[in-house]
Amino acid sequence: MTIALPADDIRAAASVDRSIRLITAGAASGQTCAPELAKGPWEFDAGTVGYGPGSSMGDVIPAGSPRQGALPREYREAGDDELRQRIRAAKATLGDRVLVLGHFYQRDEVIEHADFTGDSFQLANAAKGRPDAEAIVFCGVHFMAETADLLSTARQAVILPNLAAGCSMADMADESSVEECWEQLEEVYGDLTATDASGRVPVIPVTYMNSSAALKGFVGRHGGIVCTSSNARTVLEWAFERGQRVLFFPDQHLGRNTAKAMGVPLERMPMWNPRRAFGGSTPAELDEARVILWHGFCSVHKRFTVDQIARARAEHPGVTVIVHPECPMPVVDAADAAGSTDFIVKAIQAAPPGSTFAIGTEINLVQRLAAEYPQHSIFCLDPVVCPCSTMYRIHPGYLAWVLEELVAGRIVNRITVPDTVADPARLALERMLAAKPPASPPTAPAGA
Ligand code: 13P
Ligand code: SF4
Repeated sequence: MTIALPADDIRAAASVDRSIRLITAGAASGQTCAPELAKGPWEFDAGTVGYGPGSSMGDVIPAGSPRQGALPREYREAGDDELRQRIRAAKATLGDRVLVLGHFYQRDEVIEHADFTGDSFQLANAAKGRPDAEAIVFCGVHFMAETADLLSTARQAVILPNLAAGCSMADMADESSVEECWEQLEEVYGDLTATDASGRVPVIPVTYMNSSAALKGFVGRHGGIVCTSSNARTVLEWAFERGQRVLFFPDQHLGRNTAKAMGVPLERMPMWNPRRAFGGSTPAELDEARVILWHGFCSVHKRFTVDQIARARAEHPGVTVIVHPECPMPVVDAADAAGSTDFIVKAIQAAPPGSTFAIGTEINLVQRLAAEYPQHSIFCLDPVVCPCSTMYRIHPGYLAWVLEELVAGRIVNRITVPDTVADPARLALERMLAAKPPASPPTAPAGA
């Protein structure tokens, strides 16, 4: 029998990896969604169909997704301490020639080696801010490494320690399906470059940062823009100034939650299912649409429910519930606040001691925050320990391997975005960087 809420001994273990090992060994109470997570990710490099253990294990992986070749035996067999020493030694030898970046959702055993930790946007900026580093080792997922390659100089090599670290949500919108959607929208709306009386085209494509460079290139070529979870509203405002409606991909939840907060009625947000003609919507629905939502989602954030929030409130009176906007709309509506990983971190940093937080985002970040802020009580809304399948693919064994290869003068697992895609993708990113929130209305003078 498993116990639903993580026990104190699991919270005290801090590291998600250690928690999972304790649970699967029967040494601690609690539950994990996949006991295979206790194994090294190299167990899944060959022969595994799908994303491997973790929250995306039920998702269909596209044919031809990057696979990781075998990790040399010495790294698979090294213990935690040996890997730690080898990584430290390689980093010391490389000095400023290498920059190691770690996304908030990485395991603690990787984060301890990161020169900079942050959300996907902050990490892209960190890559941009270190043009002197010859190599950027990106401990995150594939689209993040691509974005770092777009924003870094041509001389710099961006390295993804495990090529199987993709993103199931990003994979839900591929370039050919989006091109096909665009052609069908042209049938519905006519010339997609023609402007109306107020100078707006029929539809502006907006892609979430969590998408391939090819899709960022697509939106760049079609007058569109990239957004992150922290600037989605500003970006939608930018898009509504230029278009009658928006095609938003790949995350339906971020699109819906953001547009709803801006006052767009749900009935004006039809879904685009790429497996159905015209996305499964009628011409009238598409005509009325303000935001067309691609049928994509994040399997980490889909695990959070309204019931979990009700339970947290019943068991922890006064709890503050904060969720990521990739969560389904009813969960965002039931929470006290929703925001990007950086928003969540800052909210916890700003809270008075003794605060209680229930968090709806990836477990590695939540468990790390709980350990870093012992003055608060912080727990994950989901009682089952279920990390992101693809973030989990990065392990100190791969980090030691890519760093020691660099010491030996070899670059492995380089991520390069071809020039034909890179130029329009950069344009879409630059539009995002230039987009500013509308100036707030002037405040009335005192006494007016
Ligand atoms: P941010 O780090 O941009 O908040 O995105 C969360 C996420 O799902 C990353 O994969
Ligand atoms: Fe992709 Fe979700 Fe994992 Fe982020 S947390 S990498 S969006 S599957």
